[in-house]
Amino acid sequence: MRLEGKIAVVTGGAKGLGGEMAQLFASEGAKVIAIDMLPLTYENENVEFYQLNITNSEDCKRFFDYAIEKYGRIDILVNNAGITRDAMTRKMTDDMWNAVIAVNLTGVFNLTRLIGPQMEAIGGGSIISISSVVGQYGNIGQANYAATKAGVIGLTMTWAKEFARKGVPVRVNAIAPGYIMTDMMKTVPEDLLARFAGQTMLGRLGQPIEIAKAALFLASDEASYVTGQTIAVNGGMRL
Ligand SMILES: NC(=O)c1ccc[n+]([C@@H]2O[C@H](COP(=O)([O-])OP(=O)(O)OC[C@H]3O[C@@H](n4cnc5c(N)ncnc54)[C@H](O)[C@@H]3O)[C@@H](O)[C@H]2O)c1
Repeated sequence: MRLEGKIAVVTGGAKGLGGEMAQLFASEGAKVIAIDMLPLTYENENVEFYQLNITNSEDCKRFFDYAIEKYGRIDILVNNAGITRDAMTRKMTDDMWNAVIAVNLTGVFNLTRLIGPQMEAIGGGSIISISSVVGQYGNIGQANYAATKAGVIGLTMTWAKEFARKGVPVRVNAIAPGYIMTDMMKTVPEDLLARFAGQTMLGRLGQPIEIAKAALFLASDEASYVTGQTIAVNGGMRL
């Protein structure tokens, strides 16, 4: 029970990586609030669903007030919700660019600026944001997505400094997954998925639980001296 008594918020927690993290955290003793626009695809008595579009800053504030009123504190935040709108740069529309920035960057900012200072006030916490191998190496057809996922790494290093500057152990880290089998991968053609698998040292794509376990480590006291880092969980991949 590595998260006994902890209150955790996981964005995009209805399914995929977020769903896996929410359920793993709950199995380790946390009470989890899974934020999403769509209902949960699973049932878990220790995971509460809260419907929210994280791009709306006023709704994020309403969520924050609700969570503090109900639970009194938030110990763990996982900024996991993210989207893709892929196109070659010359064909990328304003809508494609803006949609990805809004969810993957502004959404992360909206919740962290509320919850990070709250963690400072209660004496500690762990913030984990989901970047991507694409944010570390770039990828053809994903200028918008790569910009946001590299941006998450910059935010992580900045917040690790900001929220700990008063000597309070608020740890802020990112995970950069490689290609993991979730719905997000459904838009990627089979032959490309096989190519991605071949680009890893382990010769395969990843499973959601392999990301969730890295998040559990960062969320728990086992990572008490880890902050400002981006941990690659990608089977040894380089794009
Ligand atoms: N699957 C991969 O291979 C992979 C690789 C690297 C990084 N990532 C990142 O991991 C995260 C999770 O990806 P996934 O594969 O589980 O995707 P997914 O599409 O299966 O799940 C994402 C969830 O986020 C929710 N969401 C989207 N926009 C939202 C919003 N505005 N407000 C609230 N919720 C919103 C969706 O409803 C969905 O439930 C994303 O940030 C993604 O960029 C995924």
